[in-house]
Amino acid sequence: MRNTDSWEEAKNLVKERADIVEIVREHVDLKRSGFRFLGSCPFHQEKTPSFTVHPDQQFYHCFGCKASGDVFSFMMEYHQMDFPEALKSLAQRYQVDLPEKKRSAVEIEQEKRRQKMYGLNSKAAELFHDYLMNHKGAAAAREYLARRRIPQEIQKRYQLGYVPPVESAGWNFLGSRLSDDERNIGIEIGLLVSKEKSRSYDRFRDRILFPISDTRGQVCGFGGRILGDGEPKYLNSPESPVYNKSRMLFGLYQQREPIRRQRKAVLVEGNFDLLALVAQGVDLAVAPLGTALTKEQLRLLKPLVDEVVLLFDGDEAGMKAAERSVPLFLAEQLSGRVALLPEGHDPDTFIGEFGVAGLTEVLDAAGPLPEFALQQFISRHGETLDGKFRIIEELRPLIGAAVSPVQRDTMVRHFGSVLGIDSDRLLAEFAPAPGASKQNPVITRRPQITSSKSGLDGALKSVVGFMVRNPPYFDQLLAYDIDQVLAGTAGEMICLQLKSLLADRGALELDPEELFSELPAGEERALVASILTDVSADDDPEASGSSDQLDEVLKWLDRQRLKRRSEELMHKIREAESLKDANLLNALLLEKMRVDGDLKNS
Ligand code: UTP
Ligand code: MN
Repeated sequence: MRNTDSWEEAKNLVKERADIVEIVREHVDLKRSGFRFLGSCPFHQEKTPSFTVHPDQQFYHCFGCKASGDVFSFMMEYHQMDFPEALKSLAQRYQVDLPEKKRSAVEIEQEKRRQKMYGLNSKAAELFHDYLMNHKGAAAAREYLARRRIPQEIQKRYQLGYVPPVESAGWNFLGSRLSDDERNIGIEIGLLVSKEKSRSYDRFRDRILFPISDTRGQVCGFGGRILGDGEPKYLNSPESPVYNKSRMLFGLYQQREPIRRQRKAVLVEGNFDLLALVAQGVDLAVAPLGTALTKEQLRLLKPLVDEVVLLFDGDEAGMKAAERSVPLFLAEQLSGRVALLPEGHDPDTFIGEFGVAGLTEVLDAAGPLPEFALQQFISRHGETLDGKFRIIEELRPLIGAAVSPVQRDTMVRHFGSVLGIDSDRLLAEFAPAPGASKQNPVITRRPQITSSKSGLDGALKSVVGFMVRNPPYFDQLLAYDIDQVLAGTAGEMICLQLKSLLADRGALELDPEELFSELPAGEERALVASILTDVSADDDPEASGSSDQLDEVLKWLDRQRLKRRSEELMHKIREAESLKDANLLNALLLEKMRVDGDLKNS
C-alpha cells in the first residue's frame, strides 16, 4: 500500500492505477473494436452493441443512451454508489491507502472504550461457556441442548454458554466477578442492569447464551434463550456502541469459509434453526437476529456469495418475510431464491424429520425470489381484471427497486408475459418519474486528443472517408452492410456515432463537422479530422462526382459482401461434407458457384 495524505491525491492514484476495461469487463462482455472495446450497454436495453470503452483515455461512452464517464462514474452508476463509496472500493482493489482521518481526543477515547466493551463481552462469553461445559449447575442446560440435538462440538464452536438461576448463583453471578470499571462498561453494553447508583444485577439468568460475533470474531452481544417454554423466549443484549443487530448475522463468523468457498448462503430465521443445520453439516447457514432482513446484512454476504437461499418457516409469516426481502435483493443486485418448507415446519424440525437429504431437495427446488413474489401476488389477488390491478400495485415497489434500466425492463417484460399484459403498456406504467434517473456522470479525466495512424488500410480508409463526408448516403451504405465491413476496425466507432447522430438529426441537416465535435476524443476523432481536412477529397454530395463515388463505394461494399458469403459457404460446404449430406452439399456448391461468378464479374 502506498500512503496518501489527501483525498485528491488518493483519487489521482486510483485513476492512475485503475483500468476501466478491467472494471467494465466484470459486468459487460467486451470485444475489441479498433482502438476501443465494444459491448452491450449496461445502462439501457439494446439489440446491437453501442457501448464503447476507451482504454487510452480511460472512459466509456454509449452511442445509444449517451451515458459516459470514467471509472468512478461507472462504479457509481453501475453499483449505485456515491463517490466516496466508489473511491473506497477502487482504492481497496488497486491498493491505494485512503488518508487517515485525524482523530480527535474524544474519538480516541471512544475507541478505547469500545475495545473494553469487546473485551468484557468476550470475558463474559468465556465465563458462561465454561459454566455450561463444566459445572454441575448447568446439567439441565446440557440436557436441554442434547434434547435439541446440538452436539458438544457445535456448542464449543459457537461458544454457547449458560448462566445459572438466582436461586443457585444470586443476582451477581457475572457482576461479582468484575472490577468497578468493568461493571460500568457492563451496564453500558447491557450485560448488567443498574438498579440505583452503584448497584446492579445480571441481565441474563437461567438462559442458554449465544454470543453474537462480528466478522472479525469480536463478541458484540448475546442472545439468551430460556430453557424450555416461558416468556420471553429470548432475552437479547440491547443496542450499544458495539452491538447493532441489523448489521450482524448470527453464524457468519463461524460459517464464513464454507459460504465463501461455495459462493452461497442459506438464510434461516432462528438461532436454533442455524445450529440444527450446522450440526448436520449444512454449513452454509446464517441467521438475522430476530429482525426483518436488512440491506446491511445483505451487504455482509454480497462479497462472499453469488446467491442466497431463503429458508424461512413454512407459514404465512415466513412467506411474508421472503416477499418483503425482494426489493432488498434487487437493490443490492444479489440473486435470491426461496425454499419452501411444508406448513408447520421450520428448518430445525424439518431437518430433524427428513434429514440432510430431505433438506437438500428443498434447497435445490428453491425458485427465484421475484418470481416467488409474483406467484404470491397472483394467489392473493387472482387473475381477474381487478386482481391484476392489485398485482400491478404490489409490483410497483419491486420495479422501483431495480437498479438499472436493463434490470427494470427485463423484470417488467417478464411480469408482463406471466400476467398476459402487453409489456410496452406495463413499461409505460412503471416508467420512472422524469429526473429520477441519475444519468449525470462526471467526466473527471478530460481525454486528450491523440493523433496517430488510422489503423485502416487504403480501401477501407477511403470508404470511411466517403461515409464521413456524405451523411445523405449513409442509409445506402448501411443497406450494403457497411457496419459489418467496419466491425472491429476504427471505422466501427465512427459508424456508430453517425447512426446515432442521424437518428437525432436526419441526414440532410447533418454537417460532417458535427460528427467531429460529437465523437469522443481519440483515434477516431483524429481520423475524422484528417478526413475533413483532406482537401484533395473535398467534394459536394450534390455534385455528380460524388454520386460516381457512391457507385464505386457501393460496388466495393457489394464485393465485400460476396466475399463474406463465399467464405461462409466454404465453411458450410466443409460441414456438409463431414456430415455426408449430399443434397445440402449440392445446393451449397451451386450457390458458391453463383456467388463466385458474381464476384468475378463485379
Ligand atoms: P424463533 O422463535 O424461531 O427462535 O425466533 P428459535 O431460535 O428458532 O427458537 P426455537 O426453535 O423455538 O427454540 C427466531 C429468532 O428471533 C429472535 C431470536 O434471534 C430467534 O432465534 N427472537 C425470537 C427474539 O429475539 N426474541 C424472542 O422473544 C423470540
Ligand atoms: Mn424456531
